[in-house]
Amino acid sequence: MRILSGIQPSGKLHLGNYFGMMKPILDLQQEGEVFLFIADYHALTSVTDPRAMRQGTTDVALDFLACGLDTERTLFYRQSDIHEVTELTWLLSVVTPMGLLERCHSFKDKVAKGLPATHGLFAYPVLMAADILIMHSNMVPVGRDQKQHVEVTRDIALKFNNLYGDVFTIPEPSIREEVAVVPGTDGQKMSKSYNNTVEIFGDPKETRAAIMRIVTDSKTVADPKDPAQCNVFALFKLFATEAQREEMAARYRAGGQGYGEVKKQLFEMFDAHFAPLRQRRAELEKNLDHVQTVLRRGAERARAVAGETLRRARQAVGLE
Ligand code: ADP
Ligand code: TRP
Repeated sequence: MRILSGIQPSGKLHLGNYFGMMKPILDLQQEGEVFLFIADYHALTSVTDPRAMRQGTTDVALDFLACGLDTERTLFYRQSDIHEVTELTWLLSVVTPMGLLERCHSFKDKVAKGLPATHGLFAYPVLMAADILIMHSNMVPVGRDQKQHVEVTRDIALKFNNLYGDVFTIPEPSIREEVAVVPGTDGQKMSKSYNNTVEIFGDPKETRAAIMRIVTDSKTVADPKDPAQCNVFALFKLFATEAQREEMAARYRAGGQGYGEVKKQLFEMFDAHFAPLRQRRAELEKNLDHVQTVLRRGAERARAVAGETLRRARQAVGLE
């Protein structure tokens, strides 16, 4: 089983990223061969400051290493170190129907939010298909917002295989339903672009303030409450054990449980989980050369796989 995912270095990672994508992939390291990369080519569709690009890349690398990425088992690399990906993108582009890309929600959503409607942003899913297909990935763990992109990848791979013979493995998206959409402090999907995030490695004081800001309804402490309708509970349950979750749900239903109190508990659970990782991150930050070495070694290993797939694709279409 080959498992692959990527994340853009385009902002501070938050609980939506952590539970929707990072933790699933960290857990899967025990079950298969994991490929994980920093999608810097993709980030160029929104990040136009070169310094922010470099810093974002270092930050994502530190975040993953601090959270327990095992770089012996897992291939961890920077997308742009795998030049083969861009060449494969072209071979895929020429079999990708325009209509397939025109149906993608993500392009429309990003343009509506103010990103420039460039060809790169439009063709984003083809680059993503190349990332996935070049490594013969079977399984792609992502949050629900990326599901359509993995479906587009499948369509492109089938089209190519039909035309040229079986070159690509057809991947499956893997979405953990319980964390498919982690809500932000305003109740919408948590996202860097909505200003509603709880950062995983932010300043603890600010994190606490963000948690205390989580939007709730106006029920009083005494009122019985529905845990399924509560944004605080939705985050609390991500950290809680089964027993803690049930106990808290029962207290919601019974009444007498105030939202402020749950927020405090949520922060404590957050901090118990992330404080040791924050410390590890600070240690890693003192040796950025090590981080670069990890990424370089990952890229060497990944390029061996990518080179082989690209050669087969070039042969299939008649370039060799
Ligand atoms: P953002 O929306 O903050 O820009 P990205 O689009 O960069 O986040 O997402 C990176 C990864 O994290 C993707 O796999 C995405 O599906 C996942 N993810 C992002 N936000 C959430 C969320 N609120 N709930 C679950 N998964 C999420
Ligand atoms: N588009 C993904 C996101 O914004 C990042 C990404 C790029 C990715 N290539 C990928 C995810 C390949 C999974 C597989 O989150």
